[in-house]
Amino acid sequence: MKLKEALKGVLEENELRKVVKSYDIIGDTILIRVHSDLESKRGIIAEALHKIYPHVRSIAAVPLYAHTDRVYRTRDLEVIWGDENMETTHKESGCLFKVNPKRVFFSPRLSYERMRVASKVMAGETIINMFSGVGCFSIIIARMQPQTKIYSIDVNPYAYEYMEENVRLNRMEGRVIPILGDVREELKKSGLEGVADRVLMPLPEEAHSFLPLAVRALKLDKEGAGGVIHYYDVSTGRKGDDLFVMPIKRVRGIISSVFGDSLRLKIEEKRIVRSVAPRRYHVVLDLDLNLNLDSHVGGGVM
Ligand SMILES: C[S@@+](CC[C@H](N)C(=O)[O-])C[C@H]1O[C@@H](n2cnc3c(N)ncnc32)[C@H](O)[C@@H]1O
Repeated sequence: MKLKEALKGVLEENELRKVVKSYDIIGDTILIRVHSDLESKRGIIAEALHKIYPHVRSIAAVPLYAHTDRVYRTRDLEVIWGDENMETTHKESGCLFKVNPKRVFFSPRLSYERMRVASKVMAGETIINMFSGVGCFSIIIARMQPQTKIYSIDVNPYAYEYMEENVRLNRMEGRVIPILGDVREELKKSGLEGVADRVLMPLPEEAHSFLPLAVRALKLDKEGAGGVIHYYDVSTGRKGDDLFVMPIKRVRGIISSVFGDSLRLKIEEKRIVRSVAPRRYHVVLDLDLNLNLDSHVGGGVM
């Protein structure tokens, strides 16, 4: 049964219109956006959700204009039903992810994107996940393509701890390598410059400012070996607008201003990942990069 149906006759028609259609089910918890006009009805909405999903242990409201932490990407959540402790284990693509949505970023809405990226990975690749969270992209890749090594960095200590636990839960020790710290320091410190076949940048709001670092992490050589960057960005526009114009322009601008004509860039694939607000979308560009052997600079991206 749908939530709105369950609330028919309980809420007024004008209230029903303000109830959101979708919510996130993470393990045995639910996160739901609640309109500010329905503050006093949060308990009723939570009861209705619990009737639809009796296994659920905890339901939290995400205020409509919830504050999002700029770095950790966590949101202010308020438990409106059940257990205050929101730690849970979520199943996705045959993997288990222990998370606490109050402490770490986690979105089940990225499951298709995680599988899409994982399906591109070839045996033998060295991968760097610059913004790993609790390790979802990395662990799913390692499960689909066992002959890979994925260095997985996150600056949020809670995300790092859950990532370590998830590596153990999914038996990925030695294949997914959790690293705690700021990617700006960790790439150099951990000897991860010039080593990667593929770099993941799942931090749409800020990824552009880390793009030169991601390029420097790639293993590009004069024999023609290239690398791939999964670059995420935020684009705004109306239905029918080309949402890729801005991110492609931004990527080309950064690459040419930092690396001149020493690199060849091809956009291998582009897609809208999800809508995050009215007229605001997360998009991904798969960047295929090689050294430009005709360049006067003579190769090398350091
Ligand atoms: C949008 S989340 C992506 C999480 C993960 N990839 C997933 O799919 O669940 C971005 C993550 O990047 C981390 N982060 C932000 N800035 C960082 C930095 N400078 N270095 C390392 N991690 C960073 C945040 O802590 C957060 O966990």
